[in-house]
Amino acid sequence: MDATERLKKDYPWIQTPLIVQAPMRLISLAPLAVEVWKAGGIGFIGAGTDVSTLSSDLSTAQSLLQSSPTSSTTAHTLPIGIGVICWGASLSEALPSIQSYRPAALWLFAAKSISEFSTWATEIRRVSPQTKIWVQVGSVKEAVSITKAVKPDILVIQGTDAGGHGLVNGASIISLVPEVHDAVQELVEKERVPEPVIIAAGSIVEGRGAAAALALGAAGVAMGTRFLASHEASISKGYQNEVLRASDGGQTTVRTKVYDTLRGTTGWADTHNARGIINRSYGDAMSGMTEEENRRLYEEEVGKGDGGWGVEGRMTTYAGVGVGLIKEVKNAKEIVEEVRDAARRVVERLKLERLDEKGSKVKL
Ligand SMILES: Cc1cc2nc3c(=O)[nH]c(=O)nc-3n(C[C@H](O)[C@H](O)[C@H](O)COP(=O)(O)O)c2cc1C
Repeated sequence: MDATERLKKDYPWIQTPLIVQAPMRLISLAPLAVEVWKAGGIGFIGAGTDVSTLSSDLSTAQSLLQSSPTSSTTAHTLPIGIGVICWGASLSEALPSIQSYRPAALWLFAAKSISEFSTWATEIRRVSPQTKIWVQVGSVKEAVSITKAVKPDILVIQGTDAGGHGLVNGASIISLVPEVHDAVQELVEKERVPEPVIIAAGSIVEGRGAAAALALGAAGVAMGTRFLASHEASISKGYQNEVLRASDGGQTTVRTKVYDTLRGTTGWADTHNARGIINRSYGDAMSGMTEEENRRLYEEEVGKGDGGWGVEGRMTTYAGVGVGLIKEVKNAKEIVEEVRDAARRVVERLKLERLDEKGSKVKL
């Protein structure tokens, strides 16, 4: 069975190429995940480091799914996923909700060790065998160790230009996805471990990027930043306006620990930082402002509401390098359909054209 057939078997409601809405802590909740499902994608509730509201989030998702005219398509699972940040989330607190709602997928990220990932996977498989295990990784080394130890159903390969948290040292998906693909393939052949399906993430916001990821060897794509500009995201207007405004993401976003430090979302390992749009908090930190003063100004800014975002603002604005390609807030369903259709068109166009000896395009 090839990767696409496996995806269609495990997630029968999907359309291909698969478009996934990546979990985003506090931002991607049940309404977003369910809209993505309606469009034939896979949506994730971003539980992050706090699973205390997981049961109510899943209950909301279940009601939304039941009230949808298309209704739930699988009897065995809830056709959405949950994303957890393993170093901070409580496994024992999460398990009862996973057992009773049986989400289709559990996306694990940033465990303290490979064995922590294994414990999460083993326990989830014990209480809900139908739930598929997804692990997000950012290096070839991590991909190989996790494939061996955790035997994930899906490996999400996160490039360094992704929005939000990821590895401090990274590569873009351009080399990372094919290198992981080859390394995993070798492992599967030599050690007979089950082959995970590969999904690419990082700076994919539209059809051309999605088609490129498929060319690299991914079976589908996961997008975070694109869904920040969706009507169903739980996000303030100030943040969303910044996603629409920012362009040239290689220059206007940065990977840093500054924003975590100021917000107090500490606990991330030294190996991880996060990518966000550059604003005054970052500029002042780089110009030598003390952490104490910068935090004081950040806390003052929190009171400004939407006015706290912008180049001159201080509010954390996690987003990926692809932010410059996002021009409009749309419904999540429309985003999924648009990206999938555009990716299909790119793939078709590439199939139907070849270059002649002078380098001109010739229709085949
Ligand atoms: C605002 C924001 C919050 C995120 N929160 C999470 C999270 O809670 N868990 C997780 O595994 N990844 C998280 N990510 C990373 C995504 O899983 C994914 O790797 C990333 O969004 C892909 O890059 P893109 O944003 O350029 O599409 C977050 C990303 C963003 C932009």
